Amino acid sequence: MADFRVWRGDTEGGGLEDFKVEVFEGEVVLDIVHRLQATQAPDLAVRWNCKAGKCGSCSAEINGRPRLLCMTRMSVFERSETITITPLRANPVIRDLVTDVSYNYTKAREIPAFVPPPGLAAGEYRMQQEDVERSQEFRKCIECFLCQDVCHVVRDHEENKQAFAGPRFLMRQAELDMHPLDAAEDSGLDRKTSAQEDHGLGYCNITKCCTEVCPEGIKITDNALIPLKERAADRKYDPLVWLGNKIRRR
Ligand code: SF4
Ligand code: F3S
Ligand code: FES
Repeated sequence: MADFRVWRGDTEGGGLEDFKVEVFEGEVVLDIVHRLQATQAPDLAVRWNCKAGKCGSCSAEINGRPRLLCMTRMSVFERSETITITPLRANPVIRDLVTDVSYNYTKAREIPAFVPPPGLAAGEYRMQQEDVERSQEFRKCIECFLCQDVCHVVRDHEENKQAFAGPRFLMRQAELDMHPLDAAEDSGLDRKTSAQEDHGLGYCNITKCCTEVCPEGIKITDNALIPLKERAADRKYDPLVWLGNKIRRR
């Protein structure tokens, strides 16, 4: 038996409830939540799907840390420890462990899509292998939104959500900006300046909490956000760009 404390409630409010639940060798926290539903709390709401760390649905907070319920082994906790499971803090609660993650979909829609290179049909695209590998790291994202939940810019600051896309979507901007075939710039979209001015890149002060919680081990900060910041700064202080802007303004 182990001690669990689970947040129960809805849009009106709620609180932590204590449970004692049986635990077997090799189980993950999602197994315990399912046992809790089967034996003591049949109406406990939890979102999950694959139970294999691939769908990104079962995100919640365990002892205050954003984690996937299905990938957190019970063996990482002390036998005597009380395990507290709460919904993702940066999102509004719908019920129990289920939150409204629509902030993320709004931000996803705000990132301008890949612009296909002119004169090339799909199937004719050619890229260097190292360019493929660079963006493949970002494509491992399972959209669990744990990084979006942990980032202090929005975690306790609902008011920043309007201006800040969050690590997952700034990473998408970085991926497109380093894509050798993306023709956005030819159509007048400078992704670096747009990341800074339209998606809140400047709010990120490189705390790296997003990277620490990513279940796919994506180096969000080092490989996406910092390079994007560097390229945005290069663009801003490039003397040729400065001269061009000055001439254009006349
Ligand atoms: Fe989840 Fe990592 Fe994707 Fe963020 S970058 S949504 S933590 S998989
Ligand atoms: Fe937030 Fe990650 Fe930057 S946690 S502050 S986006 S490094
Ligand atoms: Fe799919 Fe956990 S249930 S990631």
